[in-house]
Amino acid sequence: MSSISEFAPAENVEAPRVKHASSGVAAIETIDLWRIYHLGSLEVAALQGVNLRIEQGSFVALKGRSGSGKTTLLNCVGGLDQPSRGQIRIMGEEIGGWSERKLTEWRRMQVGFIFQSFGLMPSLSAYENVELILRISGVKGKERHRRSVDALDLVGLTPWMDHRPFEMSGGQQQRVAIARSLVNEPKLILADEPTGELDSNTAQEILGLFRSIVRERNMTFLMVTHDSLVDEFVDEVLLLRDGQVVSTLDAQPEQTE
Ligand SMILES: Nc1ncnc2c1ncn2[C@@H]1O[C@H](COP(=O)(O)OP(=O)(O)OP(=O)(O)O)[C@@H](O)[C@H]1O
Ligand SMILES: [Mg+2]
Repeated sequence: MSSISEFAPAENVEAPRVKHASSGVAAIETIDLWRIYHLGSLEVAALQGVNLRIEQGSFVALKGRSGSGKTTLLNCVGGLDQPSRGQIRIMGEEIGGWSERKLTEWRRMQVGFIFQSFGLMPSLSAYENVELILRISGVKGKERHRRSVDALDLVGLTPWMDHRPFEMSGGQQQRVAIARSLVNEPKLILADEPTGELDSNTAQEILGLFRSIVRERNMTFLMVTHDSLVDEFVDEVLLLRDGQVVSTLDAQPEQTE
């Protein structure tokens, strides 16, 4: 795995960079990002000034203890939650300035989400679960079919296309969720503990699949994870602590749990 620890700033003063940067415009950049939740009179500062920079075409893991703000950060970057302060730039564009409509359109067309609990529709087959995303996006019949079949093929599920989620293993269900996140050919994939419910062999397979997809399609992939297996698959590991990105690391699991 590549390491950028030699370039990492000592403190959180400058955005960490992924080594194999290809252009001047980052896929994701956050600048002094804060998210404060209000629970009655209590304030919870889930993000406390996050600065990060993720280059296009990179596969990045986001680690940190439970409650360190990983999901909050992912949700803000995906436009599912709004930061209290600071900026998020996607391909150089500040998304805080986008209308709700533009944000929804961007999410639908250019971002793939993968969650720990697959989120599949139980009454639909693997094929129908994937195809549904294209229906929502208004893709026409033949094209919808071609792209759904291709996405399922990419994750090795062609023989399982007509199976419903309860007829598949956890790993197969996660593959359906991955196919679904890929079918729109997004530029960015955001995943929250996508291997959390998988055994280690299956998790390894899925991580290998992610890596090859990132390389083949030149996507950017940001993945929240607790999994120590990921270090050998990703380009970079970002460590979040108390709502801040504290470093970019090689594997140092004792600091993440
Ligand atoms: N909707 C919310 N309302 C209030 N507080 C919240 C909300 N969402 C998250 N928090 C708080 O923000 C902090 C960060 O939560 P977050 O879910 O981002 O952590 P995490 O790193 O994803 O943890 P885990 O590894 O357990 O999933 C926690 O203290 C949490 O209690
Ligand atoms: Mg979380």
